[in-house]
Amino acid sequence: MTLSPETRLVSLGRPGHEEDQPLNPPITVASTFVGRGDASGLRTYGRMSSPTWEPFEEALGDLEGAPVPAVLFASGLGAVAGALSLVPAGARLLMPRHTYPGTIALARDLEARGLLELEFFDVDGSNPLAERLASLAPERTAVWLESPTNPMLEVSDLPALLAETRARGVLSLVDNTFATPLVQRPLESGADVVVHSVTKYLAGHSDVVLGAAVPATEELRGRLVSHRTLHGAIAGPFEAWLALRGLRTLAVRVERSQASAAELAARLACHPAVETVRHPSLPSDPGHETAARTMDGFGSVVSVCLRGGVEEADAVIAALRLWTSATSLGGVESTLERRHRHPGEVASVPERLIRLSVGIESVEDLWADLEQALASVFPQPGREADSDSAPGAGSASGQA
Ligand SMILES: Cc1ncc(COP(=O)(O)O)c(C=O)c1O
Repeated sequence: MTLSPETRLVSLGRPGHEEDQPLNPPITVASTFVGRGDASGLRTYGRMSSPTWEPFEEALGDLEGAPVPAVLFASGLGAVAGALSLVPAGARLLMPRHTYPGTIALARDLEARGLLELEFFDVDGSNPLAERLASLAPERTAVWLESPTNPMLEVSDLPALLAETRARGVLSLVDNTFATPLVQRPLESGADVVVHSVTKYLAGHSDVVLGAAVPATEELRGRLVSHRTLHGAIAGPFEAWLALRGLRTLAVRVERSQASAAELAARLACHPAVETVRHPSLPSDPGHETAARTMDGFGSVVSVCLRGGVEEADAVIAALRLWTSATSLGGVESTLERRHRHPGEVASVPERLIRLSVGIESVEDLWADLEQALASVFPQPGREADSDSAPGAGSASGQA
């Protein structure tokens, strides 16, 4: 029987259905395991393996369509570091200009130490990457892809780009954090490794920092595990257990938050205080056609530039009552932030850009809060800010 991803999310990584045994995998808290620690594959020490990592690794590997389990890391950036350790020494690494800034910072650090040469490309539909690859030696080239990008929400044609890297024998590493394996599975298009900040949608409750790399082969898995063991960036058992608990509800969370994100993006696009909205669901969005053709959804992050400048953007965020002003994304609760409040944000991201992570609350409550906050900063003739009817009126500022 072939089971759908929604079912596999719930059923994978469980112990056998044996009388008197727990339904869920238990947490094993252990630094050391009894035995002689020979080469038999038995557990010896907690930096090398943990029974609590395995159910999550099995489930995520399966969901991404990998022939082997994922490799869990202590954070998303730990998984990024693991994936980047596969880039041959001195190779040229091509990366979208608006890649997650933490990944860029790590790649720049590797470049400063002479370990690779970094080159950026723009994700704008013209696909300059394919042309560039034609002029580079494949064994000394690697490609990093992130789609949609954080926070510009540019969409790459992953199947086309990965067909190109595969045909040329170029190492390809894909950050699939924003889409999740329910929306796209880059390994099926030929990627070598997929990376996740598990902190975001996979764990889903803003209470865990964790990462994972999902390799396309046993050989790559061995290298990732070896990197994890040598560098020591291992997940704690409690975090791994929480992540699996969160993963069980991924399908319902993604379905709900994606639908709300599309609805809010459409309403924001018509609002007079809004200058631009980025969400691949919008027919006018530059990524819409590619996303509709290559993805099974449009994601739950929306980016907005309001009229006015940074001051107005910050004032709208301060006026919200239900949405929480906070970094990160992918939790059940809706959060937002102006990205340039972080000094490390990429310079070409607009100063006033606000990134919204849409959660699973009622979309009408989320919209009512956005409307009242926009109205308080951009009063419209004939449209009064109605603070009494706004959700959470009277509660502490910034509380959901
Ligand atoms: C796309 C993306 N990749 C990787 C990371 C890093 O993940 P973590 O914060 O879990 O280390 C983030 C964090 O925001 C991210 O947004």
